[in-house]
Amino acid sequence: MIELREFTMNDAPALQRIYSGASLRYIERRSLTLDEAVALVANALADACSEPRDRWAYGITADGDLLGMVRLRCRTERHASLSYVLREDSWGRGYATRAVAGMLRHAFTATGLTSIGARHHPDNTASGRVLEKNGFRYRGTRDGWSSYSIRRPGGREP
Ligand SMILES: CC(C)(COP(=O)(O)OP(=O)(O)OC[C@H]1O[C@@H](n2cnc3c(N)ncnc32)[C@H](O)[C@@H]1OP(=O)(O)O)[C@@H](O)C(=O)NCCC(=O)NCCS
Repeated sequence: MIELREFTMNDAPALQRIYSGASLRYIERRSLTLDEAVALVANALADACSEPRDRWAYGITADGDLLGMVRLRCRTERHASLSYVLREDSWGRGYATRAVAGMLRHAFTATGLTSIGARHHPDNTASGRVLEKNGFRYRGTRDGWSSYSIRRPGGREP
């Protein structure tokens, strides 16, 4: 069972470990220094206090172990982009699929968002599966990235 929670400053070393090794293969990031991990957590904490809130970054935990992050960033008032990363040794257990499901529930019940987009490197098949299993629709390749979107249940399809 996984849980989503806000970050605390103590999470920086765990976040540094999440953003390392194979987890970076298909994302636009290099390994984090500890200072960068601290800055990432500090930004997430500042975002959690901003009003109106336009960014959500939640830690993904299993049995208290912080093993990933799922994020939403508003692009407009009603549309946000989704991203997620799991520590390599936690892959293949359905954690990302459940974390995205939890974030979607939050987005479509507790915020004013009506649509969410996501994208992945074309070779990142696992990420595509995570999106498809959560109801995202493939929208084609944009700027070399496989692009997806989902609308709030009950909302109109574009
Ligand atoms: C992509 C990522 C989040 C998946 O996390 P995960 O917890 O392993 O995902 P899940 O276990 O929920 O589901 C993975 C799905 O992909 C499938 N999968 C895993 N590796 C695969 C591969 N190499 N090729 C095809 N499918 C693959 C799994 O079988 C599963 O699908 P299924 O349930 O239909 O069998 C994780 O690999 C990761 O963090 N990667 C690095 C960061 C990243 O790429 N983030 C996404 C950026 S857009």
